[in-house]
Amino acid sequence: MCSTLRSRGVRWRLLAAILLAFVVPLAEAAKVDLDPSNWGHEAGQDCISCHTKSSAGLARQWQDSAHAAAGVNCMDCHQADVSEPDAMEHEGQIIATVVSPKDCGRCHTTELEQQQGSVHAEAYAIIADRVPALADNVTGPEMRAAGCDQCHGSVIKVKGDGTLDPDTWPNSGIGRINPDGSKGSCSSCHGRHRFSKAQAREPAACDRCHSGPDSPDKEIFEASKHGMLYTSHRSEMNLDASEWIAGRDYTAAPTCVTCHMGAAGKLPTTHDVGLRNAWSLNTPVSERQYLVVLDDGSELEQPASAKAPKRNSEIEKADGTIAKVKTVATPKRRRQAMSLVCLECHSKTFTAGFMKQFDNVVELYNTKFGTPARAIMGDLYERELLTPTPFDEPIEFTYWELWHDEGARARHGAAMASPNHAWWEGMYLVGRNFYSRFLPQVRDVAGADAQDIIDRHVMAKERHQWLQNPNWPNPILGFGSNTEDADG
Ligand code: HEC
Ligand code: HEC
Ligand code: HEC
Ligand code: HEC
Ligand code: HEC
Ligand code: HEC
Ligand code: HEC
Ligand code: HEC
Repeated sequence: MCSTLRSRGVRWRLLAAILLAFVVPLAEAAKVDLDPSNWGHEAGQDCISCHTKSSAGLARQWQDSAHAAAGVNCMDCHQADVSEPDAMEHEGQIIATVVSPKDCGRCHTTELEQQQGSVHAEAYAIIADRVPALADNVTGPEMRAAGCDQCHGSVIKVKGDGTLDPDTWPNSGIGRINPDGSKGSCSSCHGRHRFSKAQAREPAACDRCHSGPDSPDKEIFEASKHGMLYTSHRSEMNLDASEWIAGRDYTAAPTCVTCHMGAAGKLPTTHDVGLRNAWSLNTPVSERQYLVVLDDGSELEQPASAKAPKRNSEIEKADGTIAKVKTVATPKRRRQAMSLVCLECHSKTFTAGFMKQFDNVVELYNTKFGTPARAIMGDLYERELLTPTPFDEPIEFTYWELWHDEGARARHGAAMASPNHAWWEGMYLVGRNFYSRFLPQVRDVAGADAQDIIDRHVMAKERHQWLQNPNWPNPILGFGSNTEDADG
């Protein structure tokens, strides 16, 4: 008994060592170009003197920052070259209002590389296909600027005189396209002009975007035991620490940052938020995902059902450019990285058990609801029982909410330990809406074809047997998983 335990411990340590050897290069130890000759621009003092009067609050925020303490001034960030599209003359200097990730990256090279490679940087690109349908048609294009783009990011447009087009800025969306071509905005999470890391470690840094129907992580975290402990023990979280390693610098509770970005044990901190996620949870059907790291620093997610691309093979990216594969992180590896965080505060058995319960929920959602609903919608379009225009028929809203709202809530709730979101606000609504709205609407829309469609995609599936069998669920087990009885 004892020896098995010990050998398991050794095996786990070995696994952790292999894993770290793999993950560490992905999240390289800080490469900071903090060479003081890079800052202290001589014109900075003029900016400060005048802005202390013209915008006192803003100047004061900067004065209270780590930047001011280190002597990094306004011009060190706002300086621009005349060749830049948004460069403008201001009080005798060439400046730009936008300070892009590339500008910050002049000093913070590691954070820039990780942030540019992350899914956050792609947040504008992913909305392209849905904007016309949801924003432009269902509401109006004005909603892009005030809605989608505030979270996902806008394409910043510059007017002839170097000033910014108010239809596209102010904006600090996470995947904003900047005039210099770089993606995202570091002030999405680091409020200006303090640019504090303590502030960014708070769940509040993420809440502006990760709340509401489809990504209710704020609500989920608050309702979880972790949220309970964070609220009660916030003063013990050591948020101001220079380094912030879970298990060493704090133990009271994890925050969003702990699990998705933070250092834990030997696992390094990263600005690549998707690195540790094994699944795609916000899709009609979830798939485990490879993370493909390319030699130009960018990354792609690919479903694990496809073949893993080989190292050094060439891949054509969405923008048509070609890049070589540097490394591929399998979903298993990504899961192991996430689990290393848990292991600072929980046992291996506890962590593995929790992950099993979470994966089971995702599989249940997929097989029982996600896959059949997607197949039915495909069938309805193919038989021309629906117009090709999205969101002009009631069932299209029902289907959208099924996977995007309650379906995502259930999966996020199970991932982050809020039973309320996993069940009442999640899978309960998925079940209710599937049986009491979606299927009746299929019958309305499909008329004579309905029975065939429902038989094929629903009735034939074991998980839906209870609809035809009054003795389901199995009275002894209480679960509908006992196939022998069900068929009998
Ligand atoms: C003599 C006063 C003065 C000086 C010197 C000065 N500014 Fe300004 N600045 C202003 C005023 C006034 C505005 C307009 C404020 C407003 O729009 O509310 C402004 C606007 C700005 C803006 C915003 C422009 C926009 O598009 O919204 C930035 C950025 C800026 N200044 C940065 C700087 C930097 C960097 C320096 C140092 C090179 C500097 N300022 C020097 C007075 C000054
Ligand atoms: C660490 C880099 C950094 C420093 C230092 C800095 N800024 Fe900024 N500033 C930014 C960023 C980032 C933005 C947001 C612009 C954008 O959307 O990219 C910004 C925006 C602004 C704006 C327009 C936005 C608003 O809120 O009105 C003004 C004005 C401005 N800065 C002035 C200053 C002045 C004056 C100083 C010096 C006291 C200064 N900045 C120092 C990074 C910096
Ligand atoms: C409150 C911030 C916020 C607003 C407003 C918002 N999104 Fe999102 N969106 C998110 C977040 C956060 C995710 C990531 C969800 C995840 O991966 O868990 C996301 C994901 C997505 C996705 C990927 C998969 C999915 O969940 O559907 C698409 C597409 C998308 N959004 C489109 C849009 C469009 C189009 C609009 C406006 C009509 C919009 N979003 C408005 C925050 C927002
Ligand atoms: C998704 C939110 C988010 C975005 C976007 C973001 N950061 Fe951070 N940043 C954080 C968090 C959280 C920390 C603290 C991490 C920790 O302590 O483990 C941090 C820490 C830092 C630090 C301190 C590093 C150290 O070791 O002391 C720097 C510098 C930094 N970020 C720069 C940037 C730059 C530059 C960008 C844009 C390229 C950026 N950040 C974008 C959340 C973010
Ligand atoms: C000219 C160099 C330079 C530029 C440009 C620059 N920084 Fe910094 N940054 C520094 C220095 C120096 C420090 C202080 C490092 C220290 O205290 O060890 C720092 C510290 C930080 C920290 C840690 C603050 C804390 O709470 O300890 C964050 C976060 C940060 N920078 C974000 C940014 C962001 C975001 C931008 C762009 C908007 C930016 N920086 C632009 C040089 C720069
Ligand atoms: C300004 C809005 C915004 C902020 C702030 C923000 N996010 Fe996001 N986040 C998004 C959007 C939009 C997506 C979807 C991006 C995509 O799929 O390309 C996303 C995706 C993610 C994902 C999913 C990655 C995956 O594997 O698909 C994680 C995890 C995440 N964010 C964590 C965080 C954390 C942690 C913070 C705070 C430290 C944070 N985000 C702050 C908007 C934001
Ligand atoms: C205790 C650790 C933990 C905390 C705290 C936590 N998360 Fe998560 N989160 C996870 C795990 C585990 C997953 C599922 C990852 C996977 O796909 O395997 C996840 C999934 C997500 C996803 C969906 C990514 C996907 O796979 O599509 C987003 C977005 C996200 N979290 C954001 C947040 C935000 C924002 C917070 C804080 C409000 C937060 N998380 C707090 C562990 C955590
Ligand atoms: C910084 C420490 C820390 C980290 C990291 C952490 N947790 Fe926790 N977690 C706690 C504490 C403390 C509790 C409360 C223990 C209790 O009272 O049951 C807890 C409780 C839980 C609970 C509820 C347990 C119950 O029985 O009610 C779950 C589930 C959980 N954690 C899962 C995870 C997972 C999964 C991860 C990694 C993705 C993780 N935790 C990371 C500290 C942490």
